[in-house]
Amino acid sequence: MEEIPKPDPLPPLRVGLTYNLKNNVVSDVFDNEAEYDSIETVLAIKGALEDQNCRVILLEATEDLPEKLKNRPVDIVFNIAEGIQGRGREAQVPAILNFFRIPFTGSDETTLCVALDKALTKRVLSTYRIKTPRYRVIPKDGRTPGGGFSLPAIVKPNAEGSSKGISDVAIASDIHELRGLIAKNISVYQQDMLVEEYIDGREFTVGIVGNGGDARVFPPMEIIYINSQDRYRIYSYTVKQNYKQLIRYECPAALSREAEDKIISTARKIYSILQCRDFARIDFRLANDGQLYFIEINPLPGLAPGYSDFPMIAEFNGMDYVSLVRCVLHSALRRHGLYFYG
Ligand SMILES: Nc1ncnc2c1ncn2[C@@H]1O[C@H](COP(=O)(O)OP(=O)(O)OP(=O)(O)O)[C@@H](O)[C@H]1O
Ligand SMILES: [Mg+2]
Repeated sequence: MEEIPKPDPLPPLRVGLTYNLKNNVVSDVFDNEAEYDSIETVLAIKGALEDQNCRVILLEATEDLPEKLKNRPVDIVFNIAEGIQGRGREAQVPAILNFFRIPFTGSDETTLCVALDKALTKRVLSTYRIKTPRYRVIPKDGRTPGGGFSLPAIVKPNAEGSSKGISDVAIASDIHELRGLIAKNISVYQQDMLVEEYIDGREFTVGIVGNGGDARVFPPMEIIYINSQDRYRIYSYTVKQNYKQLIRYECPAALSREAEDKIISTARKIYSILQCRDFARIDFRLANDGQLYFIEINPLPGLAPGYSDFPMIAEFNGMDYVSLVRCVLHSALRRHGLYFYG
């Protein structure tokens, strides 16, 4: 009998990896490059993709990215690029990829633009009755807030992540402190400031992978401050840098079934409202009176192994780094109809 020839094996998937590296620029601003990635993170993702037989093409998201994309054809891009500058910087690479009709992992430019503007996100989510701390935006060339604002308040740059601009002295207890903090932060970060009512209570961050009905919401991870003597507990840049000494994480957090369900269903709702894709991380505070507050969302969450919250959440839930990268990639492949790989 004639033997049916075996189909040729699929060629390896060509995955472009877009990223922006820390440049180690000397700066007076201690957290100047907080959001950018280290080469170790890029290589960890590259290794995880190669573990799945992908051929990885490193594409640093510099000004010549369009030329690089034209010269190096890829099937899909795994995007962790933070962009170059401006309020919409996280959207820059997804917009270029969409322009060239190249599929990519993660949320699109519109979601990333909205989410990087904390106040805009709060406005959008408020229309869906998601509770978020009361706030004011102080324009960088504007005045400090007048009366009627409840103190203590936290002051944060309106369009940053990685706790950039959130030092251990980000909380103001009176109007003089508030004015000083706003003026100092505007001069350092040159952008609008978000002044938000300080929510005293427990802090949780929630990771989500996947899309639509298949999206998996991991149980909330609690950030527990070891030194509970501190008056205000904030997950500041310094705390993140020294997390092993200052905090411990608990995942799943010790929560009543009702509180856990509330956090998970709110996270799922926010993910859907903002049309997030493939993965995201959402921060919440549960006030002492039981009210749940949305703090902010990261649709491009950090993936630094051994440092970023997202890989930690996955690890707590039995998903190692390689599996996490695979899960994000495969969510995107399925979404783009590349089923034979996904
Ligand atoms: N309204 C608030 N009340 C109490 N604490 C807050 C509030 N807003 C922020 N914080 C504290 O400051 C931390 C950093 O704030 P936020 O998550 O908004 O910044 P970020 O830089 O975008 O964070 P990420 O590193 O997750 O991107 C929070 O994790 C929380 O500990
Ligand atoms: Mg945060």
